[in-house]
Amino acid sequence: MSSSPTRRPVVLITGGAGFIGSTLALRLAATCDVRIFDTFARNALAGTGLDAHPAVTLLRGDVLDGAGVAAAMQGVDQVYHLASIAGVGTVLNHPVRTMRVAIQGTFSVLDAAIAQPVLPRVVVFSTSEVYGRQARNVSESDDTAVGPVSQSRWTYASAKLAVEHLAHAFGREHGLQVATVRPFNVYGPRQVGEGAVHHFVRKALLGEPLVVHNDGSQSRSWLFVDDMVTGTIATMERDEAVGQAFNLGNPDATVSVRELAELVVEVSGSSSPIVSEARDYPDIEVRIPSIDRARVLLGFAPEVDLRAGIERTIAWYRTGA
Ligand SMILES: NC(=O)c1ccc[n+]([C@@H]2O[C@H](COP(=O)([O-])OP(=O)(O)OC[C@H]3O[C@@H](n4cnc5c(N)ncnc54)[C@H](O)[C@@H]3O)[C@@H](O)[C@H]2O)c1
Repeated sequence: MSSSPTRRPVVLITGGAGFIGSTLALRLAATCDVRIFDTFARNALAGTGLDAHPAVTLLRGDVLDGAGVAAAMQGVDQVYHLASIAGVGTVLNHPVRTMRVAIQGTFSVLDAAIAQPVLPRVVVFSTSEVYGRQARNVSESDDTAVGPVSQSRWTYASAKLAVEHLAHAFGREHGLQVATVRPFNVYGPRQVGEGAVHHFVRKALLGEPLVVHNDGSQSRSWLFVDDMVTGTIATMERDEAVGQAFNLGNPDATVSVRELAELVVEVSGSSSPIVSEARDYPDIEVRIPSIDRARVLLGFAPEVDLRAGIERTIAWYRTGA
């Protein structure tokens, strides 16, 4: 790594105001100087203290602005690139921006990285959606699969897949130390955008119906955000990670969407009903990772089981802390 042992590493997090980015920033601020670069279209910083933290600098900017990204990257040792349009609903409403932010935004980040006098190490966020609709025990050496171009949903997965290829191409062609991560259904405190847990917990606390799509039998593996952050930092820090893609998920926390809704209702003590609604866009039927590569190369072992994670998430939504 480029940082000397006597100097705190300088870290840039694009999308650092979001759900995962803010949790990552909180962890890193103890040991690093952290720059959060974000449009603040989403903002999960409330209550974190990050806006007044002496080790944290907030930079308002768009990854589509290459000069702005390059300015934010000066003197940086590590770059975590999370900035993205995220959430199926937002993607369906903004398919062009989804693809532009992913592809053009990642070009901004990678071009700025290779222009630095000392190349930073870069971790680029992809998605488990690159495995398509049937993703049972998928590993990183499996083929990826995105659906037909007639369906807007796949703009997100196909752009993220392109972004992963881009990142590894920069690694091979420009000597950039880069790795990519594929998160599988991350949940926890400060999920301010979309997501099943976010929806279920809010509705349960309001006593309103929890809506599952179609019959709710879709299988998902649910990863608590603290475990996601641990895996992400290991991806940055482990030399063995360079040039690799990693599934980051928790196969031990696999339940159907309906079972998840039932768990949220039970843990929160809510009397909310669970109702089904048909959706006309293609859903992912099964999404369960193999995390063998991350276990071996990163020492990745999720620690927070689903019930404990849901309890912590509900506590945050109740109190905001
Ligand atoms: N949460 C999950 O389960 C999950 C699953 C798979 C992949 N991911 C990926 O992880 C990353 C973080 O996701 P998240 O759940 O924290 O989402 P999030 O929406 O909370 O965070 C994304 C952040 O990016 C910012 N952003 C959006 N467009 C931007 C732009 N043009 N320039 C600068 N900032 C911009 C947003 O304001 C937001 O703060 C994303 O790349 C997402 O695709 C998340």
